Amino acid sequence: MADHLISRRLQDKVALVTGAASGIGRATAILFAREGANIIAADVNDDGAAETVSHILREDGKASHHHLDVTCEDQWILLIQHIQQHYGRLDVLVNSAGISFAKPVIEITLDEWHKVLAVNLDSVFLGTKHGLLLMQRAGEGSIINLSSASGIKASPGASAYCSSKAALDMFSRVAALESARQGHKIRINSVSPGGVMTPMWENMEFWQDLKSSTGSDEASWKAIAEGVPLKRFATPEEVAQAILYLASDDSRFVTATNLVIDGGYTA
Ligand code: NAI
Repeated sequence: MADHLISRRLQDKVALVTGAASGIGRATAILFAREGANIIAADVNDDGAAETVSHILREDGKASHHHLDVTCEDQWILLIQHIQQHYGRLDVLVNSAGISFAKPVIEITLDEWHKVLAVNLDSVFLGTKHGLLLMQRAGEGSIINLSSASGIKASPGASAYCSSKAALDMFSRVAALESARQGHKIRINSVSPGGVMTPMWENMEFWQDLKSSTGSDEASWKAIAEGVPLKRFATPEEVAQAILYLASDDSRFVTATNLVIDGGYTA
């Protein structure tokens, strides 16, 4: 039997993953499905989310994809209603949808600032709020929010991104303590990866220039990981393993924490 079929740490759990069309969200959806979860893969990128679902179905997992713009409260309400009607509960929510953005403070327009905060922070507030309302019916669940090493260590040129990630970590801790105080077994944690090899980087403007100068993707990843003590970026699958830990009962006493996975970058 393949290794991934042995533990089944999320057997029959219902898990909603945002940003599931790409990168960390996709790797998390695939890993969770291998662990027995029924996946709701949500994203604005419908084709990408459908590809994630096809991958899971090819491995005999359970998944469906749903359009979700994480900045839109009405869409959250509709999706949570759908989950309630079709599955009766929500066990795990992973808020992975996010965007990067780089510009010096004096060049950022207010619209750009609001856009980054909306996709990276409003999304987590909306998902946590509406996810919690459904989880509270069962009295248990796990919410994992994607923060970043950039929420801990300042990156010049990334004020909007860094601010959104620092704020979502604090938001997660407050929400976790509120849940604990209310007596629910609902745990809320954040995860802070350092650099991870995903399309988020490849879609940034500097990537093509970097690739022209280094000659290959592999050399480009190596070049941008120069400041990481372990001398490389993480794979999305490595981050997904940390998210799985927080989603599963293995972490049943872990709440209001921020799990850093950064190869020593923020140490
Ligand atoms: P990615 O770009 O590969 O995937 C992000 C996904 O979010 C995409 O599928 C995109 O369509 C979706 N998305 C964007 N806006 C959306 C919206 N309004 N509604 C619904 N979906 C939307 O990025 P990656 O690397 O997988 O990032 C996932 C999360 O991890 C993000 O929150 C990111 O900030 C965080 N992160 C990533 C790091 C990295 O180095 N890649 C490092 C630290 C944190």
